[in-house]
Amino acid sequence: MNFSLSEEHLMVREAARDFAQTELLPGVIKRDTIQEFPDNLVKKMGALGFMGIMVDPKYGGSGMDTISYALIMEELSKVDASASVIVSVNNSLVCYGIESYGSEAQKEKYLPKLATGEHVGAFCLSEPEAGSDATSQQTSAIDKGDHYVINGTKNWITNGGRSDVYIVIAQTDRSKSSKGINAFIIEKGMTGFEIGPKEDKLGIRGSDTHTLQFNDVKVPKENRIGADGFGFKFAMKTLSGGRIGIASQALGIASGAYELALAYSKQRKAFGTEIYNHQAIAFKLADMATDIEAARHMVMKAAWEKDQGVSYDTSSAMAKLFASRVAMEHTVEAVQIHGGNGFVKDYHVERLMRDAKITQIYEGTSEIQKMVISRAVLKD
Ligand code: CAA
Repeated sequence: MNFSLSEEHLMVREAARDFAQTELLPGVIKRDTIQEFPDNLVKKMGALGFMGIMVDPKYGGSGMDTISYALIMEELSKVDASASVIVSVNNSLVCYGIESYGSEAQKEKYLPKLATGEHVGAFCLSEPEAGSDATSQQTSAIDKGDHYVINGTKNWITNGGRSDVYIVIAQTDRSKSSKGINAFIIEKGMTGFEIGPKEDKLGIRGSDTHTLQFNDVKVPKENRIGADGFGFKFAMKTLSGGRIGIASQALGIASGAYELALAYSKQRKAFGTEIYNHQAIAFKLADMATDIEAARHMVMKAAWEKDQGVSYDTSSAMAKLFASRVAMEHTVEAVQIHGGNGFVKDYHVERLMRDAKITQIYEGTSEIQKMVISRAVLKD
């Protein structure tokens, strides 16, 4: 067993850390306040290879492994979880979905622009009545021979207003339940595809979350991903990798808040000494450091398993469940360590605390992760 990162991994982490500090940090409070999508930064992340981290270079990607992806996600998320969710959805759900399960024509058509940040992708599974219960898709895709006609509504779609490429999950044959579901690539501007209102969110406010409406959208058959009825398995397989991205995001939010709290504790004085000299603060920092280290091991194990080509459904669910809990608990503690300063925007920890909450909700709530994990452990 080897716990050390390679020279290449260390360089990738350094590049992401440098980008986060020099490019993401300066405008992060403003983007959060006014809910501004970071268009220019997405282009810059594309130029650095962060939008297609694991995509094969023959399709314009960086050809890196999942460990590199997790390292990049952690560093970006320490500073700006809005930027990192754009990266995560584009990489794990859209690029990975198309590269792993799409046709050669789909890969050649969509991946080069997605992997370089010229285009952004969205993954559309959730519906008003089908967030956790993903088999209950109400969006319909009726087979009309050479094309499908899509009707329905999708909710809480990350990158919803800013994407060029949308992977949409829809029900073709309700009688077949999960085996009657398909996944389609829908392009921005297709007739009948409307982008609805933008959500006004608690956290990750610099990302762009919308309701989408599909009214008789005619989608060519060649835009279906995989064989007829593969859509639910496609979504589940893709989400397993997505959970590594969100676990890394949660880890980054937690470690970003911890680093700020640690630095603050060395500078702020109370009762005649720096506050880290008080055991009440030192023990909080010890708990934070320990949980973050444990979360990092779980994230890296899931990423490593994916790179080894072995099953990572359970390890990614465990990593997401644990890292998101750590993010929520310890961002609250980071605010507490900052006292009154933690409650104002300039110190960043209140934003990290707000951003942490979504990691327990999207790409499967914590309760969904427990369903996935309990089914796996009970099966053994
Ligand atoms: N890989 C392959 N196949 C899988 C699978 C996986 N990981 N998980 C399930 N399946 C298969 C099952 O084997 C089964 O196939 P068979 O019938 O051939 O056996 C089929 O799919 C149906 O599976 P289940 O019976 O287990 O389905 P279920 O209705 O009990 O639900 C669930 C399972 C795990 C709860 C699933 O519905 C789920 O993951 N829900 C959460 C969805 C989710 O994460 N939503 C978030 C939206 S995306 C998002 O947030 C993106 C963003 O914007 C950031």
